[in-house]
Amino acid sequence: MPSPSWRIIGRDVYWLSMPDYSTKFFENIWPIPGGVNYNAYLVADGSECLLIDSSKNVYAAEEFIGFLKQVTEPSRIRHIAVLHTEPDHSSLIGEVSNRVGNPVLYSTLRASAFMRSMFNVETRVVKDGDTIRVGGRRLRVIELPWIHWPDTMLLYLEDEGILFSSDAFGAFGALEKPVFDDETDFEQYMRNSKEYFATVVAAYRQMVLRALDKVGKLGLNLRIIAPAHGVVLRSRIPEITEALTSWCGLKSKRKITVIYGSMYGFTERLARHACSILKKRVEEVALHSSVESGVNSVLSDIVDSAGVLLITPTYEGNVFPPLSNIVELLRIKKMGVGKFAAVTVTKLWGGTAASQLSARLSEAGFEVSHVCEYVNYPGERDLTEYEKVLQGFLQKTLEKAE
Ligand code: FEO
Repeated sequence: MPSPSWRIIGRDVYWLSMPDYSTKFFENIWPIPGGVNYNAYLVADGSECLLIDSSKNVYAAEEFIGFLKQVTEPSRIRHIAVLHTEPDHSSLIGEVSNRVGNPVLYSTLRASAFMRSMFNVETRVVKDGDTIRVGGRRLRVIELPWIHWPDTMLLYLEDEGILFSSDAFGAFGALEKPVFDDETDFEQYMRNSKEYFATVVAAYRQMVLRALDKVGKLGLNLRIIAPAHGVVLRSRIPEITEALTSWCGLKSKRKITVIYGSMYGFTERLARHACSILKKRVEEVALHSSVESGVNSVLSDIVDSAGVLLITPTYEGNVFPPLSNIVELLRIKKMGVGKFAAVTVTKLWGGTAASQLSARLSEAGFEVSHVCEYVNYPGERDLTEYEKVLQGFLQKTLEKAE
């Protein structure tokens, strides 16, 4: 695993970059083959330092302190801020705090309860608009609950225009070294960022929109956004903010996502046939096997699709279970709002997959416009009819796409 490394991102402001290639599933749900980065920060002035967040305990507290020593004498750390308490950032804080001489810990009221409950650690409660002082420097507390935990606050370092944004503006992907947004493969970064949004943040998208609005109205002289995951942003903040706003609104492009399950290849053949029909009329068609595609990329494609076509065989009378799992995630996150869905079911002898799937997609917010059922593989006449159904689905779907 590449070592932690650090970089100066402002006057006496240090980015502590801790790559994690060993965690296979973020939150033990989302596959992260490219790993993930935990970003902590140090703000120093004279004899004092503020540490912002820590890391998941893939690093031991002793290793973390050894790393801190590359940047500062640990006894200078008089303050630690917990931006939210999810353990990918907070799990080392109690032990680090004990070892560096028990500095003052700051958090929101809810985070304070969570820190006590999870780690038996006490924090001093700060509120929206409060100031944390580090020597002569001032950091403004901006409470933004539900991004994506209810206990979140951001900090704004006034003299440098740096917003420490916690999980907001985060992305998957471990970093070999700390880099800014203009020093990385930006398209890859945006894919990582969109997958992070679709999996970790999307359920709270209305809160994120409110948060963006609130930060915008504060009139900050913002130069840098320093998130808890991914690269630090300095050059492309408007572009990234625009993308995040669009994802939060589930803005639809002229794009269809097709997701299928298949046990012996029949239903996969039907899904590929459907794709070839759709591709004649629409610029972007994303095809996913519910078994082989990573769920991150499936959800990420749905964020900006105008319509979703789900094609499932009947399994023990029900929806093919891997596809069912994806639909359940869509239901929990209500990701169908403003989008259309079509359902195609194959079966040999019975079951209720079509009605089950339609009902759950409706609960996810989709308008389910077309439902087809076939016994085994559709015959030639059925396929001609199916093409007409898909064209009807496309027409309805694309009317609302941008
Ligand atoms: Fe990256 Fe919500 O923790």
